[in-house]
Parts: sequence; C-alpha cells; structure tokens
Amino acid sequence: MSQLLEGKVAIVTGSASGIGQSIAIHLAQQGADVMVDYVGPQDGALQTKAAIEATGRKAGLCEADVSRLPDVQRLVDETWTQLGRADILVNNAGVEKNAAFVDVTEHDYDFVIDINIKGPFFLTQAFVRRLIAAKSPGRILNISSVHEDMVFPHFTSYCISKGGMRMMMRNLAVELGPLGITVNNIAPGAINTPINTSLLADKPKLNALLANIPLGRLGEPTDIAALVAFLASDHGSYITGSTYVIDGGLMRNYHEQ
Ligand code: BGC
Repeated sequence: MSQLLEGKVAIVTGSASGIGQSIAIHLAQQGADVMVDYVGPQDGALQTKAAIEATGRKAGLCEADVSRLPDVQRLVDETWTQLGRADILVNNAGVEKNAAFVDVTEHDYDFVIDINIKGPFFLTQAFVRRLIAAKSPGRILNISSVHEDMVFPHFTSYCISKGGMRMMMRNLAVELGPLGITVNNIAPGAINTPINTSLLADKPKLNALLANIPLGRLGEPTDIAALVAFLASDHGSYITGSTYVIDGGLMRNYHEQ
C-alpha cells in the first residue's frame, strides 16, 4: 500500500499517551519520521518511540513542557538536530480541569491556558520561523475539541483555550497561506483516552453522554489519527482554515443534564 507521508517529518506534542500517541504511530505507519514530545515519566514516550521504530521510521524523543517557552524552542531545535527538519506540527498536548466557575483558582486557570493555547501559539511560532528560514511549506494541525464551539459548564478555562485555538487557526491560515503553510483544527468529541479517566469511571455520567452520541460509542484515538495523516499529506494541500469535527454526531445532538 502506498504511504501518505513518505519522507515527511512530524512533531507531535503530548505523544506519550492518548490521541497524541495514536497520531505519532499512525503518521509513522504512513511513512513519516516523528518527534515524540512528553512531560514526566518516560514510559509512554518510550512505547510510542518503539512503535514508530517498529514501522521502520525514525523517532526522536524530547521532554518539553509546551507551557514553557525555552522548552518549546528546545523541542523545535531538537527536532532539527535529531531528525534533520520538520514539515508537520501537530499541536496535540492538552489538559482540562473540572470546577465551577466561582471556584477556579489562578493556578488552575493558568495551567489550562498555558498548556492548551500559549504552548501551541509559541511552538507554532518557533516552527514557522524555521520553515521561513528554510523557505519550506508546512502543515499545522491543532487538536482542539468540540468545545472550541460548544459549551461545557464547569470547564470554562478549557473552552476559552479551545475557542482561542479556533481563532488562532483561522488567523494563521490567512497569515501563513502565502508561505504555503496550511493550518487546520481537528475537533474530537468524547474519546477513549486518559483525559476522560474520571468520566469512564462514572457509569451514570458516561451513559448520559453515550445517549447523546448518535453513533453510540466513544471515539478511539485512531479515529482522530487517520484524519491528521490525510490533512498532513498531499491530499490536504488545498485545505486550510477549517475545523474538522470527529465526534460520532455529539455536537449535533448535545443536551445539558
Ligand atoms: C473533553 C472531554 C469531553 C468531550 C465531550 C473533550 O474535549 O476533553 O472531557 O468528554 O470533550 O464533551
């Protein structure tokens, strides 16, 4: 089978688990070398690296907290050092905190905003500076959420960050288009990953959510990874400035409890 991403190099943030891990492995299966970014224990990142190498592709490894500017710059520099260059950036790393609006602390607000939107902003900036210096085209894929558009009470900082990601994508699609750089968002609904650990353990809450999903199941990380590969490939060369929702129909059928 021909591969979509033969000879390409991708950076995937938060690729030690969940959606990011699946994307990193899938991009490698489609022919790309991949820089694995992680924070904290190395186990998941090493699993991702091994799975990439099992496909015959190269994997880079870098511990970088996207909320810290020096880390973001180091992630880009390490990619060029370990893998020679990059063509594709996947801003995947993300967190959420569940709290009533009146209880949100400055610490938790900053934690969510810094990882989910400040990080992608400055990582994209560092990546684009490299592309400009090399006069290379590129692909930027942001993993946002249905909550870039849809309300999610008790997760207001998360919604602010994902709504910000939507506007960042739209602005950058226009500003970077003339450089041959495309920018798109993929907006997952409820996916079977560690971010949903507490939801998965709460059967009544899970069942209420499932009742709102027309396709009747949570999504799997591979449901997201396949579209990332398509958009990053030559098939995606005329696609920029849009969000692609992958949610089993949730967004069209969402009811608050
Ligand atoms: C959130 C999940 C939530 C899902 C659907 C995702 O963006 O990370 O916690 O279950 O949206 O509401």
